[in-house]
Amino acid sequence: MKLVKHIANLGYGSRKQVTAMFREGRITDADGEVLYADDKPAHEAIRIDGQPLDPPPGLTLLLHKPAGYTCSTKDVGRLIYELLPERFRDRSPLLSPVGRLDRDTSGLLLMTDDGALLHRIVSPKSRLDKVYEAELAQDLRGDEAARFASGTLLLESDDKPLLPAELEVLSPRRARLTLHEGRYHQVRRMFAAVGNHVQALHRCRVGGLELGDLASGQWRQLHEADLKTLFGHDA
Ligand code: URA
Repeated sequence: MKLVKHIANLGYGSRKQVTAMFREGRITDADGEVLYADDKPAHEAIRIDGQPLDPPPGLTLLLHKPAGYTCSTKDVGRLIYELLPERFRDRSPLLSPVGRLDRDTSGLLLMTDDGALLHRIVSPKSRLDKVYEAELAQDLRGDEAARFASGTLLLESDDKPLLPAELEVLSPRRARLTLHEGRYHQVRRMFAAVGNHVQALHRCRVGGLELGDLASGQWRQLHEADLKTLFGHDA
């Protein structure tokens, strides 16, 4: 791929703007030697205004999403992209959330520009656990774990019952729920189906990956070893 297109695809500007950056001598190699648009340096060797380039395509992130941010590139209110470097919203291929968390849900959100990886993570075949902690409006009654585990619970407007899910009661109004699928507003709808209401929801684990010490609003790039942890075996 031509250098101008490669850099433009990373969100540094339109091709016209990147061409102008070459003309201005802002794009150099690691030793500060000016690069030209038809040079073919390795990605790692390129500097813009002396700074290394953002990671090339194949970028996967783990974001600790705060409540109040929407998983979308365009929407009213705050967007998850505001938590990332500004250029990340303009990358091609697009850096997309892997599945969505509701605006009011916090916790572990994966983002990737790798379509095959995205499909592998969300595929029902991967059966990756998704673990949530929910704060509830009312005390648990005691029958919820059995109903969620039954494999027969049918949510309103769905035509297939839910796969069995595991509920662990943490306190009368707090529970940890492990799902093996990802349906629209699934956790909130499951608790609604047993006469309760989710007041706060946090995703703490997907597959083998947890947030660790990543603070709310922070993100980190994932590497091969993290993907092995995610899938629980060779990625
Ligand atoms: N289930 C929900 O209800 N909301 C989420 O954000 C994720 C799972």
